[in-house]
Amino acid sequence: MSKPVSASGKIIDLKMILALSENGTLGKNNSLPWDIPEDLKRFHKIINNCDVVVGRKTFDSIIKNNLKTALHKWKNNNFLVLTKDNYLEYKKKYSEFERIKIYQNLDELNGFLIARSIANPIWIIGGKSVYQQLFKQVDSQISSIDLTRVPGEYDGDCSWDLDTNSDEFKLNFKLSWSEKRDLKEGPLVHERWLRL
Ligand SMILES: NC(=O)c1ccc[n+]([C@@H]2O[C@H](COP(=O)([O-])OP(=O)(O)OC[C@H]3O[C@@H](n4cnc5c(N)ncnc54)[C@H](OP(=O)(O)O)[C@@H]3O)[C@@H](O)[C@H]2O)c1
Repeated sequence: MSKPVSASGKIIDLKMILALSENGTLGKNNSLPWDIPEDLKRFHKIINNCDVVVGRKTFDSIIKNNLKTALHKWKNNNFLVLTKDNYLEYKKKYSEFERIKIYQNLDELNGFLIARSIANPIWIIGGKSVYQQLFKQVDSQISSIDLTRVPGEYDGDCSWDLDTNSDEFKLNFKLSWSEKRDLKEGPLVHERWLRL
């Protein structure tokens, strides 16, 4: 399948990054149900210098009540935020922030991606609704999935039975690490799946 290209001829390289527990939990009360600093560190290293696509609820959880701190922590990222119901409010609220762009639907986001002239990857960073829509609706555009498998079962209010064992992705690497962890359940496993 050919890769989508932008107006300037650059490939639009959409990638997905997420962490899932053994029972498929993604989140609880609009936050992560685990606290794994080394995985967050790895996450920021991977997405460094890239634009990130994020749903409004996950964006709110990143910003919490301190936009300045969040922008500092994410200093090399541009946020491409999807919101339908809060579009006008968020557009106005974040209009002075060049690194925060608000989109009211996937078509508008795709329009931006097509017009974009830079070639670095765009990371889809959640939450559930955004992962699922982009995985399903424009899955031909997703070139890879970076998945942290968090050992153990976690309670949550959102989960995803992600099927990486389809004919469309192949495992590129799998890395277990437990050095800094004291988990009874086992080590963290990091997998990278590439589109076939
Ligand atoms: N485990 C992980 O790796 C990971 C990563 C990220 C997030 N999470 C978790 O995921 C959970 C949040 O997921 P979620 O599904 O509830 O929320 P979400 O995907 O973060 O945000 C959903 C919101 O995004 C907007 N939206 C989604 N699709 C849209 C579209 N096509 N067009 C316009 N707007 C759109 C809507 O905003 P409006 O309501 O404003 O219209 C919608 O309510 C949290 O628990 C979070 O911690 C987990």
